Amino acid sequence: MSKNLKIIESGEILDLQARHIPCPKSQKEFAIDVLIGLSHSPKRLPCKYIYDERGSLLFERIIACPEYYLTDCEVEILRTYKEEILSKVGGGKINLVELGAGSGEKTKILLQEMIAGNIDVTFIPIDISSSAIRDSTDSLKEQIPGIKIKGLVSEYFKGIRWLSNLDRCTNVILFLGSNIGNFEPAEADVFLSSLWNACNDGDYLFIGFDLKKDIRLLLNAYNDSGGVTAEFNLNLLRRINNELGGDFNLEEFQYYSTFDAISGAIKSYLISQRKQNVVIDEINRLFFFKSWESIHTESSYKFLVDDIVKLASRNGFEIIEHFFDSKNYFVDSLWQVKKE
Ligand SMILES: C[S@@+](CC[C@H](N)C(=O)[O-])C[C@H]1O[C@@H](n2cnc3c(N)ncnc32)[C@H](O)[C@@H]1O
Repeated sequence: MSKNLKIIESGEILDLQARHIPCPKSQKEFAIDVLIGLSHSPKRLPCKYIYDERGSLLFERIIACPEYYLTDCEVEILRTYKEEILSKVGGGKINLVELGAGSGEKTKILLQEMIAGNIDVTFIPIDISSSAIRDSTDSLKEQIPGIKIKGLVSEYFKGIRWLSNLDRCTNVILFLGSNIGNFEPAEADVFLSSLWNACNDGDYLFIGFDLKKDIRLLLNAYNDSGGVTAEFNLNLLRRINNELGGDFNLEEFQYYSTFDAISGAIKSYLISQRKQNVVIDEINRLFFFKSWESIHTESSYKFLVDDIVKLASRNGFEIIEHFFDSKNYFVDSLWQVKKE
């Protein structure tokens, strides 16, 4: 294990982003990614920076929007198939590792089932948002007495590298909520092959995919009537103002999302409603926006089952089973790492 990482006791949070642990790069990385993204043509910003404390709270409000069907579908899948899913991954000692865990609410369904079945499980939520890790570990410890939790505040890739330090027992990796859809296709392959590398032969990946469906349903999910998704995206500019000394006027940027039928993704943007300059002190730059110029903030790719089969096979995973919701809107797919 790297000497930079301390061993953490049950329930403690290891913060790879915090300054006292040698990871001075996180704020610098934010500044560099903003510089690169706003210098790019067309302008773009990585969606992972939406998630500070406010961003995580706004995401919880999105989940509660009637238009956002994804979470309801996945809750239904977990409630319906929890026993079957757990019977496939077997008993013994398990590290249940969740990447981009958020509130951990859906995972609670599996954790309760595991603990009721006397499975020796340690839950390891990994998330870039320290408030998400803090709040989820606090609430799970309260709701499931005796649960073993090691929260890790980290970007996916650092978390994946850290995974290989875990005790030798079966790793069951959760990647829920169709988080995989936020990667561009080439990035999804890099992510999955890195995960494969960090896992042991026989480990499992339980991964959620939002399926292609009626475009109106897709568009509604990213255009809620209460404007929560718009606020969520605008949080990126708010963070740049707060943390990097930016002077974005949020009222002059409009949220817009559309379905790109060629790539098969919902693409989200913030659009400058007028010609304007924005200064960002921390990176010592002034950025010029033309009227109606866009910043790409998020892609949310949608999948066919056939895409999922190919994704698994070209990254070294064997599909054990697909679990669908009753409307066939969403699938959680159980994969196993094959190395031999
Ligand atoms: C769309 S939310 C999904 C949350 C939860 N998995 C669910 O299904 O409801 C994405 C979560 O992943 C985290 N996240 C996004 N990008 C990340 C990254 N690059 N590394 C680590 N966590 C990330 C966010 O903080 C957020 O909690």
